[in-house]
Amino acid sequence: MDQENEITLRKLTVDDVDDFMVWATDPKVAHFCSWEPYASVEDAIAYIQNVVVPHPWFRAICLNNRPIGAISVTSNSGADKCRGEMGYVLASAYWGKGIVTKAVKIAAKMVFEEREEMERVEALVDVENGGSHRVLEKAGFVREGVLRKYFVQRGRIRDMVMFSLLRTELRD
Ligand SMILES: CC(C)(COP(=O)(O)OP(=O)(O)OC[C@H]1O[C@@H](n2cnc3c(N)ncnc32)[C@H](O)[C@@H]1OP(=O)(O)O)[C@@H](O)C(=O)NCCC(=O)NCCS
Repeated sequence: MDQENEITLRKLTVDDVDDFMVWATDPKVAHFCSWEPYASVEDAIAYIQNVVVPHPWFRAICLNNRPIGAISVTSNSGADKCRGEMGYVLASAYWGKGIVTKAVKIAAKMVFEEREEMERVEALVDVENGGSHRVLEKAGFVREGVLRKYFVQRGRIRDMVMFSLLRTELRD
């Protein structure tokens, strides 16, 4: 990616809803996710207002400051506060260009810098989502194992692969 095609992360707001709809309405993007493709702008606005804006760490993946995807890391409390779960999506027109790998590396660095209690970022990925496995491996995550019958994906119970990156494993 050259400077004219810069990948950055920034907060997503209701003003970005038209860009959000590009990936959120795409069945190819939703295939391995828990949500159905969005059918209305109103539902998307409600999601951005009720989930994205109050979320502890949710960022738009931007190409030249325009959102083309999203990445998030949850915040836990109590005995679970040392870890957060990462998730991401990218509009299908941009797949295969290294964009999410870059976004994952930036996000992990930012989260470890911002939250001193965090020692581990984890990601749970469908066993058949080979592109996402590869993203995490390229970003330095370790494949820990398969969690059997772990996740209900729109009515289907799925086996999930657990990946993690520790603060001590972070590299440029
Ligand atoms: C999975 C996803 C995030 C990948 O984003 P991306 O920007 O295309 O990823 P990158 O280009 O950084 O890397 C993709 C890698 O996976 C590889 N890949 C793609 N499809 C693959 C498959 N079915 N099996 C194995 N590897 C695959 C690519 O060749 C590439 O590896 P390489 O650089 O060694 O050639 C994107 O396709 C997406 O948003 N999918 C829909 C939402 C989703 O599944 N999110 C993850 C939920 S855990």
